[in-house]
Amino acid sequence: MADRADDPQRELEDILRRGPVIPVVAIAEPEAAVPLARALLDGGIAVIEVTLRTPAAIEAIRRIRAEVPAMIVGAGTVLAPDQLEQVATLDVAFAVSPGATARLLDAARESPVPFLPGVATASEAMAVLERGFALAKFFPAEPAGGTAWLRAVAGPLPALRFCPTGGIDARNAAQYLALANVLCVGGSWLAPAEAIAAGDWGRIRDLARAATALALEKAP
Ligand code: 3PG
Repeated sequence: MADRADDPQRELEDILRRGPVIPVVAIAEPEAAVPLARALLDGGIAVIEVTLRTPAAIEAIRRIRAEVPAMIVGAGTVLAPDQLEQVATLDVAFAVSPGATARLLDAARESPVPFLPGVATASEAMAVLERGFALAKFFPAEPAGGTAWLRAVAGPLPALRFCPTGGIDARNAAQYLALANVLCVGGSWLAPAEAIAAGDWGRIRDLARAATALALEKAP
């Protein structure tokens, strides 16, 4: 297990700011993992969320960790405490959930892995704040209210900052990144399933380059 910062929230904030555009990927074949990660890195992307939505996900995380050490790897779609335990053994840099059950939040507080819980309402946001989490994934961002929702909660919930994902792409990412309570955005548009399946790493590198330009705009 790598050394962890004393404050996992602080560590997570640093990682999210490193994005600040984070590809959310579903990897069907473990063989795709390393070339995918290298293409993203070539395009200037240094943080990736590998979702646990495919049987190949765990092996994909292992391979990227072993063969592309410059890439910061998080595990996504963590739905239950046992998945959090599993990804902790892979030494992932962070874990993300689309939601935040009480069981998962309790497990996350005990886990060495910095955890980003998902919220889509003010009450859910308050529940994660109550348990000491000051960073949240806003999911699904576009259907749940988009940038208007984020602006609306900035007043009553100033302590919470967000990584919106869900319906974000090159057309609207900059509008999210311009908000003060948004640290980064996530999305699958950087690594389309068909480009991964076709091994079109050049296309993924170019999408990553375009996203890196957005990242420069967010830079302080
Ligand atoms: C996620 O888990 O964050 C989403 O599936 C990503 O959403 P998108 O596919 O709309 O980018």
